[in-house]
Amino acid sequence: MKSLIQQQQDASLAAIKTASDAAALKEVRLHYLGKSGAISCLSEQMRTLSKEERPAIGQLLNQWRNSFTEVLEAKEKMLLDQADEASFASLDPSLPGTASWQGALHPLTLLTNRIVQIFRRLGFAIAEGPDIDDEWHCFDALNTPPDHPARQEQDTFYLPDGRLLRTHTSTVQIRAMEQTSPPLRIIAPGAAYRRDEIDATHLSQFTQMEVLCVGEGITLGDLKGTAEFFFRELFGPETECRFRPHFFPFTEPSFEIDVRVKPAFLASKCTPASFKAEFLKEEKWLELAGCGMVDPSVFEAVNQQRSDQAYDPEKISGFAFGFGLERLVMILTGISDIRMLSENDLRFLKRFAGEF
Ligand code: PHE
Repeated sequence: MKSLIQQQQDASLAAIKTASDAAALKEVRLHYLGKSGAISCLSEQMRTLSKEERPAIGQLLNQWRNSFTEVLEAKEKMLLDQADEASFASLDPSLPGTASWQGALHPLTLLTNRIVQIFRRLGFAIAEGPDIDDEWHCFDALNTPPDHPARQEQDTFYLPDGRLLRTHTSTVQIRAMEQTSPPLRIIAPGAAYRRDEIDATHLSQFTQMEVLCVGEGITLGDLKGTAEFFFRELFGPETECRFRPHFFPFTEPSFEIDVRVKPAFLASKCTPASFKAEFLKEEKWLELAGCGMVDPSVFEAVNQQRSDQAYDPEKISGFAFGFGLERLVMILTGISDIRMLSENDLRFLKRFAGEF
């Protein structure tokens, strides 16, 4: 039996050596290790041996199985490596690859993110409201009487059921105060809609940012400080702000904020030369935002809706301001036609991707 095992063992190792591919090697494995393979058959025959012979034969069989498996696995690995090498041989690593498309954020989204970061540092949270709102949130609660021109059909998009596309994000002032008691510090970025003729400076859907801060002892000084901080963060520390008296139904007193940006700051931005607009060359005042102290009648409308006195105008005050984001993107990028921001021409979008 011993010599039989030895013979078979030599034959099995030789068979591994001569197997030239994976299929042949599989055959060899089956022939020796399979259920009715040579090693199993000889193991079966151990039963016919005497007690004294068994241990030595058993040991021989084990050694055979171990060395067979080891040599077989080494050969399998070698064949795999050879196959890998063969498939790489036909590969030309100097060929140009296939470029993958990478998306990028729209300039308006980039600006929104930047503004959110600036206000977050001042403790403002983001608030939201629906694009389709009712007349009460868009006008009545904001002290805007029925005969106000903004309410006319030629200025606003009305739905058949009387609701409308909000004409400003000031609706979110009301919705935030309905839901939350003071103190309150929110910003609300979002779309606003007006029935404007579309031209180089007007879109019928544009983007606004609303800022509202309400609490005890909030003053005009807080409004000016916050607005100035914001515009200087955005346009550089030498930016000047001017508060020009104005009228809004929902703030008293009301102002428009004019901003004078240093051309040197804009030139330092990544403004492609082809988009340089004329304001890059000279300093001038740009009308960028509307603002004011929240009118007491707005607080009263909110209290009535909430059925409480959380926004008691005797104890509570606040400021609000709002501005259009398209105008700011136009200044930062130097483009002179607002339509570029909604046409989604890839040649334009690619120039600004990631550059704010
Ligand atoms: N909602 C005003 C507009 O769209 C801007 C504004 C917001 C004015 C907040 C005052 C306070 O023109």
